[in-house]
Amino acid sequence: MNRQRRYGRTLPEALGEYTRRDPARFHMPGHKGQDIPYGNRLTGWDVTELDGTDNLANPAGVIAVTEGAYRDAYGARASMLLVGGSTSGLLTMSLALGRGRRVLLGRDSHKSALAALALADHDARFLLPEVNPTEGLAGMLTPRQVEEALQAQPADAVLLTSPNYYGFCADVEGIADVAHAYGALLLVDGAHGAHFPFSPQLPDFPAKKVDLWCVSVHKTMAAFTQSAVLHVGKHCPMDPERVRRMRNMVQTTSPSYLLMSSLDRALYVATKIGYQRHMERVEALRARIGRINGLRVLDRDSLGYGAVDMDLTRVVIDVTERGIDGPQAYECLVNSGIVCEMCDAYRVVLITTPQDPDEWYDRLIDGLTHLPYGMSRLHKEPPYIAMGRQVCSLGEAMLGPTERIPLAGAVGRVAAVAAGVYPPGLACLVPGEEIQGDAAAYLLQQQAKGFALFGVEEGRISCIKED
Ligand SMILES: Cc1ncc(COP(=O)(O)O)c(C=O)c1O
Repeated sequence: MNRQRRYGRTLPEALGEYTRRDPARFHMPGHKGQDIPYGNRLTGWDVTELDGTDNLANPAGVIAVTEGAYRDAYGARASMLLVGGSTSGLLTMSLALGRGRRVLLGRDSHKSALAALALADHDARFLLPEVNPTEGLAGMLTPRQVEEALQAQPADAVLLTSPNYYGFCADVEGIADVAHAYGALLLVDGAHGAHFPFSPQLPDFPAKKVDLWCVSVHKTMAAFTQSAVLHVGKHCPMDPERVRRMRNMVQTTSPSYLLMSSLDRALYVATKIGYQRHMERVEALRARIGRINGLRVLDRDSLGYGAVDMDLTRVVIDVTERGIDGPQAYECLVNSGIVCEMCDAYRVVLITTPQDPDEWYDRLIDGLTHLPYGMSRLHKEPPYIAMGRQVCSLGEAMLGPTERIPLAGAVGRVAAVAAGVYPPGLACLVPGEEIQGDAAAYLLQQQAKGFALFGVEEGRISCIKED
């Protein structure tokens, strides 16, 4: 068959092969391939709106019960199930603002946030997070930065990402106070922090202060991929029914009952089993990794530059003292049967959850102990963070006519897409921005070093078409 000839296997075969390898999975989804109570009943539970199964668009039965349980667990005024990930949560939040509003957001925002703002034709203003030079990492937005930006020019909403991929958290409460003082709503992309309410050792989330936020339950809890939840804060001035209407506009009319019931189970598991034991074993794991020659686990010492707390279940291992880079470490671990969530130039990032079998931690320690040594300690360079001139709105840039141009010759043109180095995915260029020589040179240099770029395909970038 053609499709098999091209890749040597079909999609189900690729999944079968992955599960047969039985790797220690330090990546999402948070259920880690462990049993959530479906067993071989998967197709049996894949139903539609029936007598007794309620209707996600307007829940009044079993789905309303699950949504109510989320609302109570997260201290929200209303909670809504999402079957399109936090991506659909960001779309909902953006549409709930209306059209053409002024939104302040960090340059570290996920691409789904940019798409969400573009589709509602909002006027987006970017803020650059500070840079942590010791770690060579972007920090988080700060209340002071947000205040200065709001003083300079008002906005209808601030869209904050917290936690980030590395588990660092911004001062959400401080930013909420500032946003509200200037008449702006605070929306939070909390995709990576779904599990925060379930342990006092995890970062606090000021649910009372935030207007709208979404969490990708599938990333860190025992739910199927795409399962997420959108919350309306207790003091959000918006009518939850408006938010629900927008949520319904961006989701399928045939939501998967497998995803929705996995959301129900994930909450049950997190509440009943809790995170206490997991926090203890992760602490022990972090200490064991710290004792391995040339490895360092990022901890609270790395806070600052806008980060006020961190998620200790996210195990970020700096491998530079070992003289190897992140991609090398990632690859070696894969060869030892350990798959991490991601790597950047200097680190590997692992997602741990209560669903991890204990045995994986011994395998991980073994794999890390046997990582090779390089010639000399790697010097960390700060990530490229700079802002170009914003020529037009995200919507105009992303939805208008475009042409693909070799990046080397695109200086001075207006980007129609976000572009940067992946991982970690921080944008060097955002849609609507004039391409600076420095940004293009940095991207080309990183590509030459072997790093993958996003927003640049076969050396070309989509730019706004010129007449
Ligand atoms: C910060 C952030 N926000 C939003 C998303 C989108 O979440 P989802 O995959 O649940 O749609 C991601 C996905 O990785 C993310 O990292």
